[in-house]
Amino acid sequence: MTEENDFLAPTPFQKILTGRRSIRRYLPAPVEPDKLRACLEAARVAPSAHNAQPCRIVVVDEPGLKDRLAEKAFSGLYRGSRFAAKAPVLLVLLAKRDFVAHRLGAGYQRIPYYFVDIGIAGEHIVLQAEELGLATCWMGWFSRRHVRKVLNVPRRLTIVAMMPVGYAEKRPNREPPRKTFEEVVAFNRVPLD
Ligand SMILES: Cc1cc2nc3c(=O)[nH]c(=O)nc-3n(C[C@H](O)[C@H](O)[C@H](O)COP(=O)(O)O)c2cc1C
Repeated sequence: MTEENDFLAPTPFQKILTGRRSIRRYLPAPVEPDKLRACLEAARVAPSAHNAQPCRIVVVDEPGLKDRLAEKAFSGLYRGSRFAAKAPVLLVLLAKRDFVAHRLGAGYQRIPYYFVDIGIAGEHIVLQAEELGLATCWMGWFSRRHVRKVLNVPRRLTIVAMMPVGYAEKRPNREPPRKTFEEVVAFNRVPLD
């Protein structure tokens, strides 16, 4: 291999980034506790605005509770999200709002940074899971009202997302359409669209 090829060969991390997919079909196989722990640790060490560390995670792996949660969270309008109930673990990602970072700072900047923080922490989970051969899917389409009720989530915590974790039964065949590099990135000017 030439030096140039060596340089261009995707790194293990780049393979994780490009290989990751949202998985919507899960095997019933359990997730090994050490692997799950590694994913959760990845969230714990994520950066956050003002180092407020607002991310809180409910790990739902007790089958009875998971079934009850899934039945309620993915009911009615949200039935399309039922696929997640097949995964052995359902994570619920919560944000604990911090007065300084999220009221004063965000009010001034007009950016709800706790959503950014949960996004970063959640994506740490996703990428760590991918490296360990696990499958995940970010989920925003579920009944927050029912999740709050079933898990007794207090009002001071915002329910941001859910995430099944498990082993893929099937990976999607097709790549999702991605915008081109030029559509997303521009050097020294704003991207055109
Ligand atoms: C914040 C967020 C919320 C999402 N919510 C859902 C969801 O409720 N249901 C679902 O099937 N996929 C959901 N997705 C997955 C996206 O549909 C998926 O990331 C996108 O189609 C690109 O496909 P890929 O993840 O396989 O690259 C969500 C993704 C993100 C980042």
